[in-house]
Amino acid sequence: MTDFITLETRALEQDEGYKLVIGAVVPRPVAWITTVDETGRVNAAPFSSYNYVCHSPPMLAVNIGDRAGVLKDTARNILATGEFVVNVATEAMLEPMHESAADYPPEVSEPEALGIELLPGRFVRVPRIAGSPVQMECRLDRSIPLGRAGSTLYIGEVVAFHVASELYVDGRIDSVRMRPVARLGGPFYAGLGTIWKRAMLQQAPVGVGGVRPKA
Ligand SMILES: Cc1cc2nc3c(=O)[nH]c(=O)nc-3n(C[C@H](O)[C@H](O)[C@H](O)COP(=O)(O)O)c2cc1C
Repeated sequence: MTDFITLETRALEQDEGYKLVIGAVVPRPVAWITTVDETGRVNAAPFSSYNYVCHSPPMLAVNIGDRAGVLKDTARNILATGEFVVNVATEAMLEPMHESAADYPPEVSEPEALGIELLPGRFVRVPRIAGSPVQMECRLDRSIPLGRAGSTLYIGEVVAFHVASELYVDGRIDSVRMRPVARLGGPFYAGLGTIWKRAMLQQAPVGVGGVRPKA
């Protein structure tokens, strides 16, 4: 029998709960988010408290914590402009993605400082990261403050997907070939490990090309 340690969150310090949740919710995809400030300066930073939360329209959610009561540049820019781009972080871009998490002051553009090549946004004013094979242009749908420590959930509607043509197969993204990176707890990242294939047993959501339930 496994011996369990039980930790009631009420009795934990903030950072203890944080360490547990980032070790338990793994692997997390990494949203490498680009934004612009009011002057058009481009910001880039990675966020792994992230997932898709609605399929029609496709919507993404990312949780951004503040820095001692001050909004991070990404959060401030999303609130100011209502726009952001989520660039999928891949093995090929691990180093610049990781380095863009350093605490750069707002007046420093990470893509400029790190030499990250950009492409213009087509539907939003925010540029995309050229080296990322899948970029999602988003408009802010709503922001929801959560908890007691300055976390806010930003929910964006994807208004356009840009998919590298070699990864776009029959209307799907070849996510194995994409070689995404995931965040684990602490200083660790992971690539895709073993891939298992199983027949789909569940129905795809109605209206997205799945099997419609019988009337
Ligand atoms: C892989 C990775 C994932 C991260 N995930 C988050 C996250 O989900 N939420 C968050 O607030 N910060 C997260 N961070 C920290 C931010 O990237 C960091 O605070 C960054 O400096 C914010 O930049 P900005 O001020 O330019 O927005 C993460 C860092 C790394 C390296």
